[in-house]
Amino acid sequence: MALTKKLFVKTYGCQMNVYDSARMADVLAPLGYGPGETPEDADMVILNTCHIREKASEKVFSELGRLRQIKADKDGGLIIAVAGCVAQAEGEEILRRAPFVDIVLGPQTYHRLPEMVAQAARAGGAVLDTEFPIEPKFDFLPDARADGPAAFLSVQEGCDKFCTFCVVPYTRGGEYSRPAPAILAEARKLADQGVVEITLLGQNVNGWHGDGKSFGWLIRQVAKIDGIERIRFTTSHPRDMDDDLIAAHGEVSKLMPFLHLPVQAGSNRMLEAMNRRHDRDFYFGLVEKLRAARPDLALSSDFIVGFPGETDADFADTLDLVRQVGFVQTYSFKYSSRPGTPAAGMPHQVDEAVKEARLAELMDLLQDQTNRFNAHCLGLEMAVVLDRVGKHPGQMIGRSPYMQPVHVDNVAHLAGKLVNVRISEIHPRSLRGEVIHSERIRA
Ligand code: SAH
Ligand code: SF4
Ligand code: F3S
Repeated sequence: MALTKKLFVKTYGCQMNVYDSARMADVLAPLGYGPGETPEDADMVILNTCHIREKASEKVFSELGRLRQIKADKDGGLIIAVAGCVAQAEGEEILRRAPFVDIVLGPQTYHRLPEMVAQAARAGGAVLDTEFPIEPKFDFLPDARADGPAAFLSVQEGCDKFCTFCVVPYTRGGEYSRPAPAILAEARKLADQGVVEITLLGQNVNGWHGDGKSFGWLIRQVAKIDGIERIRFTTSHPRDMDDDLIAAHGEVSKLMPFLHLPVQAGSNRMLEAMNRRHDRDFYFGLVEKLRAARPDLALSSDFIVGFPGETDADFADTLDLVRQVGFVQTYSFKYSSRPGTPAAGMPHQVDEAVKEARLAELMDLLQDQTNRFNAHCLGLEMAVVLDRVGKHPGQMIGRSPYMQPVHVDNVAHLAGKLVNVRISEIHPRSLRGEVIHSERIRA
């Protein structure tokens, strides 16, 4: 079918949303929608939203204000859809505050988008679909289309962990593992389209247990697919890091030596109040086992500062944990109170200024660790997937095994390839490399 209409998708939040945005574009292609560059030139706009922190959520409403004007300028000739986690959590509120929105859909119903578009055209009113349907959306999606050499593949969704600060169990629903045959078929199709690196995605990806199998087993199956040279996964929960998965880090050479394993805090009191279901010693134990399996493993984490009741001593425990473990790349956040979560009602909410100061101190320490790790990479040989076009003519940007962006000059002819580079310069947020083998190499 000719793509005669234009779809513009703006994505907020996590990689699951990035995956979902691509799949929404896939389901709309049969209706004639191809990619649009801006909301102004689009016939339909989807905002794929994130509810994780207050700031993320509020962005949606300011973006909707802008879209309202664009829609008016086009005499109404623009379908506006709000998808994702804000839509799930605040669907009614969106329609109340932004009545010019045509479609509101949750993360579990986007396979029904074509119907919703038709319905919106017919009814002239807004369509709201934030159900958690019994049929998993994955059974109704067309084949994923590769967009470059690196691809995301959702294998697991939702969460049953109920950390007391987090909205995900409410916005994404209960834990669901996709069946292995469907995942492996999708991975093979991506490989056929030239994908060399797959990132397996899930809110609790290592809790995947499709067909009674373990996540370590799934990784070994993906590793058998010809053409797939690199495997990553995110996000893992420490509690679901079982021995088989730890062993896979030592045995599966395609599995990259980089693991995002969020710990959130270093104080046992806070970990308990957060309902993280493990203490700091458990985390130290995991790190030790992982490094025994894969000595060059680099670790990454998320942190929350200023969780209700967090004292200076608790925060000092976080700094201490960071010093003991050593992380190469991290995300740190000020605790943000989310409606409907248990932590929102907890006493001793921490002062904004205290949160601010703790965040700055933690980020300094973490940045130090990142810098040291980057400095240690100078002169090393690394395999890089050249998946993005750089700013300068002929320049490409790739990812190192440790997720560092690596700029490489004069390699336009190697776009999309996995190449070996030697790291020649270290910059605060990226590395530079020179190609040493232009032949495509194995991971
Ligand atoms: N499933 C992942 C996290 C998904 S949310 C896990 O268990 O680690 C991504 C990150 O957002 C979290 O790791 C946490 O650090 C942060 N986050 C979640 N809720 C938050 C809140 N209410 N305030 C601040 N940060 C939050
Ligand atoms: Fe949120 Fe905790 Fe589930 Fe992660 S494990 S998605 S932080 S509830
Ligand atoms: Fe945000 Fe939803 Fe992902 S709240 S982080 S988009 S699961």
